[in-house]
Amino acid sequence: MKIAIYPGSFDPVTLGHLDIINRASALFDKLIVVVMHNVSKKPIFSVEERKEFLRRTTKHIKGVEIDSFGGLLADYAAKQGACTIVKGLRAVSDFEYEFQMALTNRKLNPEVDTVFLMTSAEYMYLSSSMVKDIALHGGNVADFVPAEIESEIIARIRKDG
Ligand code: COA
Repeated sequence: MKIAIYPGSFDPVTLGHLDIINRASALFDKLIVVVMHNVSKKPIFSVEERKEFLRRTTKHIKGVEIDSFGGLLADYAAKQGACTIVKGLRAVSDFEYEFQMALTNRKLNPEVDTVFLMTSAEYMYLSSSMVKDIALHGGNVADFVPAEIESEIIARIRKDG
């Protein structure tokens, strides 16, 4: 059984993430989407909220599970018996940071490799921060976030963002 993990902050999940989840799920028997902690970020949504958004927007995709983990990605991959970490690559600017993370994770866990999927062109410029900024300033995020969670995201960001 080929298990892959797709880690991220997902604060909140966007259509760009879903594009990667859809495509990666077709390549593996099981894809675990895991909400993790990025030391350089202060999320708006709680881990539970982020997981719930992911659950609701991926429930129709076969082989996808949602989880969270507070430790190292390399340890989580070992714990799950995963052979692959999936990441989306948006632009050349992502490359250096992603390359550094992939090499570090392989050093920490030689059993796991990182595979990059090219983000679809329409989401190349997208990020969770951009969604939060647009929503906070009253803009339209319909093209960037899944329809079933759009109103909740907007309400929460305008209240607490
Ligand atoms: N479509 C749209 N947006 C995308 C995207 C895509 N396909 N791929 C990435 N993004 C966005 C993300 O939403 C994120 O936006 P933000 O900066 O506004 O939050 C941004 O691009 C960067 O994404 P990423 O590089 O995946 O960062 P992340 O914070 O989502 O995830 C972790 C980083 C959590 C995976 C990483 O910090 C980690 O592994 N932490 C665990 C601790 C650990 O093991 N540390 C050692 C790592 S070597």
